Amino acid sequence: MIFENAVTFVHRILRDVIPQRSVVIDATMGNGWDTALMAGLVGEGGIVYGFDIQQVALEVTSTRISETSADVRLLLCSHEEMALHIEPEHHGKVCAVTFNLGYLPGGDKDVTTHAETTRRAIEAARTLLAPGGVITIVCYRHAEGQKELETIRSLLATWPQDATACTETMFLNQVGNPPVVFVVVARS
Ligand SMILES: C[S@@+](CC[C@H](N)C(=O)[O-])C[C@H]1O[C@@H](n2cnc3c(N)ncnc32)[C@H](O)[C@@H]1O
Repeated sequence: MIFENAVTFVHRILRDVIPQRSVVIDATMGNGWDTALMAGLVGEGGIVYGFDIQQVALEVTSTRISETSADVRLLLCSHEEMALHIEPEHHGKVCAVTFNLGYLPGGDKDVTTHAETTRRAIEAARTLLAPGGVITIVCYRHAEGQKELETIRSLLATWPQDATACTETMFLNQVGNPPVVFVVVARS
């Protein structure tokens, strides 16, 4: 099996862990590719919550998922507040939360995710997971991304191993500054 890059690696994981009719979260909607993938996986009867702080991300994502039969809820809201926006009945039932950090490709690079809010969002995501649920995080290595990387690594290293399995992966022979992928699995 060959993974082309960090995003296809994460998509493979999402395809493996997201059942039909489940509840999932895209914590950084951006151009909507991850939301669209998740919507296709949960299908009719499933729910996708999508978060972004930019109106343009909601608009692009809304167009991209226009044909889906899933219930997709697009929220103009920072992801560290996600628990406030997930229906109480879905707390503890979320099968996957995906983060693709950084800035909107083709957009304003100054509007980016930040280490402290990202840390709080990942902590919130953990509280929402179902047993066996996953958090995936793609973290780029521009200046703010490097701070996020160190913050996430430190955070996940403190999580108890009887509750979660936390891993870090990177394409060692990819040119440039390849992103790092963190995966958290909540133990049953
Ligand atoms: C790399 S893009 C996401 C790519 C996207 N998942 C896709 O499939 O196209 C990162 C996104 O995170 C968003 N973002 C930045 N800070 C955020 C925050 N605090 N909460 C939610 N989204 C945020 C940006 O606006 C940007 O659209």
